[in-house]
Amino acid sequence: MSNNRVLTGITTTGTPHIGNYLGAIKPAIEASQQPNSESFFFLADYHALIKCHDPERVARSTQEIAATWLALGLDTDKATFYRQTDVPEIPELTWILTCMCSKGLMNRAHAYKASVDANRDGGKEDLDDGITMGLFSYPILMAADILMFNAHKVPVGKDQIQHIEMARDIAGKFNHTYKELFVLPEAQVDEETQLIPGLDGRKMSKSYDNTIPLFCSSDELRTLINRIKTDLREPGEPKDADNSTIFQLFNLFASADESAAMRRQFENGIAWGEAKRELHEFLDAKLSAPRARYNELMNDLGAVEELLLKGAEKARAEAAPLLDQVRIAAGIRPLTYVAPQAEKAEAKKKEMTPEELARIEEGRRRAILRPVQHLIDAVAAADDKATAAAALIAQKEQNLEGLKKKAKQKAENELDALRIELAQYL
Ligand code: TRP
Repeated sequence: MSNNRVLTGITTTGTPHIGNYLGAIKPAIEASQQPNSESFFFLADYHALIKCHDPERVARSTQEIAATWLALGLDTDKATFYRQTDVPEIPELTWILTCMCSKGLMNRAHAYKASVDANRDGGKEDLDDGITMGLFSYPILMAADILMFNAHKVPVGKDQIQHIEMARDIAGKFNHTYKELFVLPEAQVDEETQLIPGLDGRKMSKSYDNTIPLFCSSDELRTLINRIKTDLREPGEPKDADNSTIFQLFNLFASADESAAMRRQFENGIAWGEAKRELHEFLDAKLSAPRARYNELMNDLGAVEELLLKGAEKARAEAAPLLDQVRIAAGIRPLTYVAPQAEKAEAKKKEMTPEELARIEEGRRRAILRPVQHLIDAVAAADDKATAAAALIAQKEQNLEGLKKKAKQKAENELDALRIELAQYL
């Protein structure tokens, strides 16, 4: 594992806008192209359920955000790109971490405190009115997202810094209580990209309804740009580029030369209408190629789904071995588990009779089979047991391809045990 592992997630509740692109997606993709970094980017769809109970919106947003990362050129061979809900190790770790997290720590979380304050200001008697346990313990799910992959750096907006600190606290508590298994992550906040202005000049944000969707049509883009607030300066009057949303948005996409040329036009008194026309033309040219790619992907969601599932497989190959260690450290172990003090175990084995060894081996095989018992039952219940058994083995063999080493070992054990179990049918 490198010591430059970067991880970040985007909650799937909205349509990606220019602020998300410049503030999060673009820098993340650029960082993922650095030779000695490892990147984990994911769609935080469990997080979406905390703040949005509109299933169509969550589902649609997940499609859009996935297609956006890909349209912008994320290399999924290099970065690990996945959907949180495809990695069951994350909610499993969430529970273990929940048991490592004091309630007082969660009482202090900004998002929870803001909701309590709103209830108090609203004169509500129950200060927890409308607050779900999801919202309350949201930082623990986020800690699991990060710790599951032992990320070192987590690029986030300022509002998320507290959550990264909580992840450090929780990791420290686990490491101290059980075993040093978790890296203490650090937040990475880029001041510059915090300041992307929306149509009204305030920070571009869903909650202000001032966003420009990244891949809206050229006509929509024009309509939105025409809504940008300007002052009353007439054509011909010099204009203050640095205080103009039009200039700032232009600048964020422009080269140094392009930016300098536009600044000169402002000094020379370009009319606001003309400045908007130029901004539209410029952004439209920059966005048209990824927009076309985005539309293609949105019309081929099967291909996007496939990439996400492949990403989840890669992610799980990292997560599963660490979760195994976490469980073992906390005492959640197969009944037959023996600590791997290699020599001790070997010496013990030598003293054992063949019957004892066989019994241990059988126990191990049973433990491996337990999670797949439903598959064995399905084979036993099938009309054509031979075909069903052969199909299951073939499917497992196929899964094995493409798995990383440790996960592969686990899958190989499972396959061996299944072969013996199903031999009676084959
Ligand atoms: N909570 C983050 C947000 O709202 C999204 C998120 C979820 C995240 N899990 C994460 C970000 C893990 C970084 C790391 O912006």
